[in-house]
Amino acid sequence: MKIKPAGHILSITPYPPGKPVEEVEREYGIKDSVKLASNENPLGPSPKAVAAIIKAVAGLHHYPDSGGYYLTAKLAAKLGVRADQIVLGNGSDDVIGMLTRVYLKPGDTAIMTDPSFLMYDIFVRTVGAEPVKIPLNELAIDLPAMAAAVTEKTRMVFITNPNNPTGGHITPAQFEAFMASLPPHIVVVLDEAYIEFANSPDCLDGLKLISDDWPIAVMRTFSKVYGLAGIRIGYGIMPAEMAGMLHRVRQPFNTNSLAQAAATAALDDEEFLRETKRLIQTELQFLQDSLTRMGVCWFPTQANFFLIDVKQSARSVFEALLQQGVIVRSMVSYGYPEYIRVTVGTRAENIRFLKALERVLDLRETIHA
Ligand SMILES: Cc1ncc(COP(=O)(O)O)c(C=O)c1O
Repeated sequence: MKIKPAGHILSITPYPPGKPVEEVEREYGIKDSVKLASNENPLGPSPKAVAAIIKAVAGLHHYPDSGGYYLTAKLAAKLGVRADQIVLGNGSDDVIGMLTRVYLKPGDTAIMTDPSFLMYDIFVRTVGAEPVKIPLNELAIDLPAMAAAVTEKTRMVFITNPNNPTGGHITPAQFEAFMASLPPHIVVVLDEAYIEFANSPDCLDGLKLISDDWPIAVMRTFSKVYGLAGIRIGYGIMPAEMAGMLHRVRQPFNTNSLAQAAATAALDDEEFLRETKRLIQTELQFLQDSLTRMGVCWFPTQANFFLIDVKQSARSVFEALLQQGVIVRSMVSYGYPEYIRVTVGTRAENIRFLKALERVLDLRETIHA
């Protein structure tokens, strides 16, 4: 083809999404597989959200409310911020994309961890800026090394808390020290996609940092704890001036009417939220206790997923688990050739996983179901 993309687009590797269950089943000739690969909610979507979607379907001939007035107002009241500090997105991905379009230009750099959520890299490269990647230090985010990597070209820093794929967290004191060492012209994107699962008292809560005077943008999503990944809705909380800039580049109907209705209803679904958090805590404990008995090395987490060191080729273990109908995430492409990442599932799914892992790793310990 004679038409060439802008040079920097060629440096982008497309996002490798987890395969849909149906595709994996077809490919491997298996049935009744369980997917513990994409950090989704094992309980399904919030029932109140589902009811709201069904009701909202009748209005699909109308364009959505561009600014998502009701959802934004409800979020503001719930979170204790102002509505003009919130920007809704087609998933929190969308808000991250807006931030890069507004604050980065070709030649700028953005600092992130290595590994980190792959979309940061893609969005930064899309606008012709360059990612600068700082390795984790024993799986922890190395904030001093990130601060030391700042140059006059740096315009943005990404921090994920709890982190993906490790599940590790940072503390308020660590973050304060980091902020104190940053020059004031840098936008800090604090991605809290999994914050609702965190239960450590010393886990940083980005909401407490929101101020019109601090260039911090906190990303949150309905994809995880509310079980709404498929309908795509998330949001950012940030200084009002920053939010105003994002509205300049936001597509007018970036969040669809079903997603707005679902998210608004989900905010009222306290019971679902409680049940999800309870399930994740109970099942995480069950998985970790079982793995310990099996002599398998796992890493602590503040999220709904965690890493396991399989002490052999993660790719082979991933493939062998797939043959048993259990889909997890190999960490090979994240730079951990012997780790897999597992999303916490229901008790039945977790037992399937543990039994499959036992067979694959040839362990003798039995699962105490
Ligand atoms: C760290 C992190 N940020 C953001 C997202 C994207 O969330 P959303 O579905 O709201 O776009 C994910 C999804 O897996 C994630 O792991």
